[in-house]
Amino acid sequence: MKRNILITGGAGFIGSHVVRLFVNKYPDYRIVNLDKLTYAGNLANLKDIEDKPNYEFVRADIVDIDEMRRIMREYQIDGVIHLAAESHVDRSIKDPFTFARTNVMGTLSLLQAAREYWESLPKKFDGKRFYHISTDEVYGALELTAPEGIESPFTTTASSAEHHHAYGEEFFVETTKYNPHSPYSASKASSDHFVRAYHDTYGMPAIVTNCSNNYGPYQFPEKLIPLFINNIRHRKPLPVYGKGENVRDWLFVEDHARAIDLIFHEGKDAETYNIGGFNEWKNIDIIRVIIRTVDRLLGNPEGYSDELITYVTDRAGHDLRYAIDSRKLQRELGWEPSLQFEEGIERTVRWYLDNQEWMDNITSGDYERYYDEMYKNR
Ligand code: NAD
Ligand code: DAU
Repeated sequence: MKRNILITGGAGFIGSHVVRLFVNKYPDYRIVNLDKLTYAGNLANLKDIEDKPNYEFVRADIVDIDEMRRIMREYQIDGVIHLAAESHVDRSIKDPFTFARTNVMGTLSLLQAAREYWESLPKKFDGKRFYHISTDEVYGALELTAPEGIESPFTTTASSAEHHHAYGEEFFVETTKYNPHSPYSASKASSDHFVRAYHDTYGMPAIVTNCSNNYGPYQFPEKLIPLFINNIRHRKPLPVYGKGENVRDWLFVEDHARAIDLIFHEGKDAETYNIGGFNEWKNIDIIRVIIRTVDRLLGNPEGYSDELITYVTDRAGHDLRYAIDSRKLQRELGWEPSLQFEEGIERTVRWYLDNQEWMDNITSGDYERYYDEMYKNR
């Protein structure tokens, strides 16, 4: 079937994996990648597919509603997968307004432009879909009731045998009350509410998914995993916030992209699906795995880079634990993570070490200045 799909934020980390998957898997679809190319957007992430006949790139700002109206009409868009956002918590603490602008006003502009275009068609919303990608951070933070970890109550075929544990009995489910703490998560929560309001008020066929922390190739090196891999390579300090006790639930980015594909095609309108890996790690433990893996792959003796660990002032409002219960998605659509964590982290570290040019291109110049500024007080 021919379809015109608009993917926003396709030059970013997760978006580039989604664009690649759709362009390769659906030759009959026209995939329009809409991205403003902020500091986080990088067309080098899509080099391998940029010449494909079913792929087009449009540089635009989602806040610009007239431009969104024009794009919806010009490309006759019938499905939107919305990933464009400001995504880094530390930046949101320094500059909350940019997050409100892009994440709230940008999402609203896109919703309104899609609504106006689809309502103008003879069949209106029939066959249309607005899919909004959100985060587990909107649910707030969970208690860490089992500091040493307990056996996880869940099983998936991909869960790591070694680290198949949880740090508490509570998990985020689709009905967990929103309780965001950072300007980033507050802006994402607000955008989620607008999407649901457009469904309830105007009948917009909409889906929201809330995913846990992603890792994998092409992630901007301000985020924990690529930052630390790069710092180890350059023998720079590894800034661990607080005591390194915070817990995150890590999912390989290609598994997230597979879930997005499945939900876009088979999910039910007005539904929410949680996506996660049942793969909880304390920051300090995952940092030790990264150090061990990088040192091994670089041929350094074991323990060589441990001395780079530097405990720094904690992130303000730092959420203690995120843990997603993704059994609804497993039950209703048959999705589960495909990759053992050990394999995913090995592939990830190898990718960054093998693609040093990609890393060097974005860690020079402006980024270096930003990074120094961000960390000079820590
Ligand atoms: P990212 O920061 O790597 O990429 C964001 C992309 O959006 C960039 O290409 C950027 O240029 C683009 N963009 C930013 N502002 C824009 C604007 N005003 N107009 C058009 N494009 C704009 O982010 P990511 O980590 O790939 O996250 C993608 C989405 O997934 C976000 O909505 C994020 O909230 C959500 N999410 C991320 C994670 C994660 O672990 N990274 C987990 C769950 C959900
Ligand atoms: O949970 C999903 C979210 O995951 C997404 O919505 C966000 O877009 C994404 O950025 C990510 O948010 P986190 O804040 O969890 O990711 P980050 O990589 O910034 O940090 C992961 C953990 O590591 C967190 O507890 C903070 C800590 N950290 C991070 C950095 C960058 C450090 O200790 N030191 C660091 O230098």
